[in-house]
Amino acid sequence: MSASATMPKQVKIVEVGPRDGLQNEKETIPAAVKIELVDRLTRAGFPNIEAASFVSPKWVPQMATSAEVMAGIVRGPGVIYSALTPNMKGFEAALASKVQEVVIFGAASEAFSQKNINCSIAESIERFRDVAQAAKQHGLRLRAAVSCAFGCPYQGEVSIESVADVTARLRDLGCDEIDIADTIGVATPNKVHAVFGRVAHEFPLAQLSGHFHDTYGQAIGNIYAALEAGVIIFHSSVAGLGGCPYAKGATGNVATEDVLYLMQGLGIETGVDLDMVVDAGQFISAHLGRKAVSRAGNAIAAKRKDREGSRV
Ligand code: HMG
Ligand code: MG
Repeated sequence: MSASATMPKQVKIVEVGPRDGLQNEKETIPAAVKIELVDRLTRAGFPNIEAASFVSPKWVPQMATSAEVMAGIVRGPGVIYSALTPNMKGFEAALASKVQEVVIFGAASEAFSQKNINCSIAESIERFRDVAQAAKQHGLRLRAAVSCAFGCPYQGEVSIESVADVTARLRDLGCDEIDIADTIGVATPNKVHAVFGRVAHEFPLAQLSGHFHDTYGQAIGNIYAALEAGVIIFHSSVAGLGGCPYAKGATGNVATEDVLYLMQGLGIETGVDLDMVVDAGQFISAHLGRKAVSRAGNAIAAKRKDREGSRV
């Protein structure tokens, strides 16, 4: 790996746990628990939290309480709260919930587009056009996700050109930021270099984000590769929560605690308090009745317990 001279001084971490993380949970999580989680994440200092998803409750029941969550949270000054909005119905709900950013979500794979949002890539771009226009009219930030940028659970290989093509179409809708998403966590660092290298010809690198799931344990390596490639925005999920209901077997996003530990070690500023994120991760994992998936989070929590024990 190359010397850290090429590394940025600062990156933006978008916390997606309350949405990407929790959307996959089978048991209904009370809105009060989600609110407590978002509030803890706000206090930890994230500049951007993906807190809601205004999709069909028949498709993703866990997100049905999104309006309640948005109404209940204590908003931090300057913090951007984002919500997924696949169509105008979702947009209207997001607007009423006073989000600062709406997220349209397309795919680089036709098969995934059909399974996830029930339409082709071309049809999705047409639906997104109205959402994009409405976002601009109301002065909201517009972000887009490109799912399956490194592989698809249904069609397998996804060509780099199809990632570049969808990115260009989303750019033309006026997006402020575009997420290059490894939905099923199959990427390796060489592919990360190749994809970001190509996509950067379509959209400014500084507005592209790396959204890595950790299914094959490659996410931290992939983030390092993305940093080398010039990416400065990353998505992660507290306690490594999640998966995608339309990508069976895919595990959660890379754990935020692990990403923050990496950034600390590299001397890269995030503005986020790792200890408070560890607490938030332990809080939600306790509620879910399982251990957090974050290696760094669990190590830090174990060390604390050790210290407390030795004081007794
Ligand atoms: P559809 O069935 O084709 O839509 O679904 P429709 O327009 O025919 O409507 C069907 C019913 O849904 C109607 O209700 C609508 O009112 C309702 P009914 O009349 O039958 O009672 N409906 C809605 N309800 C609430 N909010 C809405 C909404 N829209 C329609 N916005 C649709 C099309 C897109 C709605 C559906 O496929 C859907 O909701 N999909 C969501 C899938 C999803 O959320 N996937 C997970 C998030 S993506 C992800 O995780 C990837 C990401 O993390 C990046 C990565 O890792 O790759 C972002
Ligand atoms: Mg995701």
